[in-house]
Amino acid sequence: MGILIYSRARNLNVKTSRAHFSHAVTTEAIHAALKQVKYPGFSRDIVSFGLVRAAAFADGTARVSLALTTSDPKVPAQLKREVDQCLRALPGVNDTVIEIAVAPARAAPAAGGNLAGTAGTPKTIALAVAIASGKGGVGKSTFAVNLACALAQHLTAKGRPGRIGLMDCDIYGPSVPLMIGLGGGRPEVAEGNILIPLEKHGVKVMSMGFLVDDNTPVVWRGPMIMKTIQQFVQNVRWGELDLLLVDLPPGTGDAQLSLVQTLPLDGAVLVTTPQLAATNIARKGGLMFQKVNVPLLGVAENMSYFLDPAGNRHTLFGEGGGQKTADSLGTILLGQVPLLPEIRAGGDAGEPVVVSSPDGEAARVFRAIGETLLARVTPKPVPAAGR
Ligand SMILES: Nc1ncnc2c1ncn2[C@@H]1O[C@H](COP(=O)(O)OP(=O)(O)O)[C@@H](O)[C@H]1O
Ligand SMILES: [Mg+2]
Repeated sequence: MGILIYSRARNLNVKTSRAHFSHAVTTEAIHAALKQVKYPGFSRDIVSFGLVRAAAFADGTARVSLALTTSDPKVPAQLKREVDQCLRALPGVNDTVIEIAVAPARAAPAAGGNLAGTAGTPKTIALAVAIASGKGGVGKSTFAVNLACALAQHLTAKGRPGRIGLMDCDIYGPSVPLMIGLGGGRPEVAEGNILIPLEKHGVKVMSMGFLVDDNTPVVWRGPMIMKTIQQFVQNVRWGELDLLLVDLPPGTGDAQLSLVQTLPLDGAVLVTTPQLAATNIARKGGLMFQKVNVPLLGVAENMSYFLDPAGNRHTLFGEGGGQKTADSLGTILLGQVPLLPEIRAGGDAGEPVVVSSPDGEAARVFRAIGETLLARVTPKPVPAAGR
C-alpha cells in the first residue's frame, strides 16, 4: 500500500514568470533536467533508476510523478525539494506539481528479521542474505557457490535438505551456472510464467546466465536490473528456503539500491581480499548497506594465504585486510579462505571444492563460515509447512 505525497507549490512571482509562458517545455527536457537529481546517498540519478513514472508540461506547470520504495521519510522530502528546484530552473516553468508514491521498504529491520509477510518477498523464504564486494575478481561468486554448497551439506545433515537457494544477480558476468555445474542449463517455465530453479549439489539456483545467450552482448540499465531482480524474487518457485544467498554484481551502490528496492534483505556479507586496494572499496560497499539499514553479518577474506604442499602458509596478497575492514565497519571477520588451485579448478569444472574435497582445508573453512553465518541470523523463523 502506498502513501501519496502531493505537493502543489505556487510560484509567487507568477506575473514576472508569465513572460516565459510561450515556452513549451517538452517531456524530454523535463527528463533531462531530472537527470540532475541523484537518489539521496547514491551517485545514480532518479531517471536512470526508473523512479520517474510520468512527466508533462502545460500552461507553465511541470508535472512529475515518482514512485519509490523506502521507509525513510527524509528521502521523498529531499527528492521533492530537489525535483522542484531543478524543474523551476527550466525556462517556462513557473509552477510544479510533484507526486511521489512511496511504498514502505521493509518491516522494521529487527535482528534476525523475518521476511514472512513482507511485501514482495515469497513467504517461504525465511532469510535473504546478499554476498557483495566492492571490486570484481575478489572471488565473490566462488565464495557464494561454495558457501551455498557448504550450507546445503550442513542443513541436509540436520534433516533439512533442499532449503538453500542461490540467486545470481550478476547480469554482466553471471558465473554461478558454470561454477556450480549447471552451465547451459535452462529453467523450466511453469504455468503463470513461474520459473523453476535448477538444482545442483543440494542448492536451488537461478541465474541471468540461464536466461541470456552467451553470445548476446548484454547492455542493461538500472531499471532493467531492478526488473530482473524483482522477477527472480517473485516469479521463481523457490519453495521453502531457510536461506537465500544473493550473489550481487560487483560495485558499491546501484545494484545494492536496486536490490533493497525490491528484495528486503536480512543481511549482507562482504567479500574482500587481504590487500588495501580491495579493502578500501569493500568498506565503501559496507557503508552502502548500512545506509539502507541492511545489517552487515560479517566480512569474509578470500585468497588470504597460499598453503603449499608442505603445509606452509604464504600470505601473497598481504595480511589483515579482512579484519581491518570488519573492524572499521563494526562487524566481524567470518573467516579466511585460502588461495588454492583446487578452488579455481573446482569452479572451472563445475564441482565446487566443498563438494569435491569435503575433507580439505577449504571445505573446513567454508563450513565454519556457514555455521557462523547461521548463528548470526538465528533465531531464524521457520516457515510453516504448506504456505
Ligand atoms: N580462494 C581461491 N583460490 C583460488 N582461486 C580462486 C579463489 N577464489 C577465487 N578464485 C578464482 O578467481 C577468479 C575470480 O573469482 P570469481 O569468483 O569469479 O570472482 P568475482 O565473482 O568476485 O568476480 C576465478 O577464476 C576463481 O576460480
Ligand atoms: Mg562474480
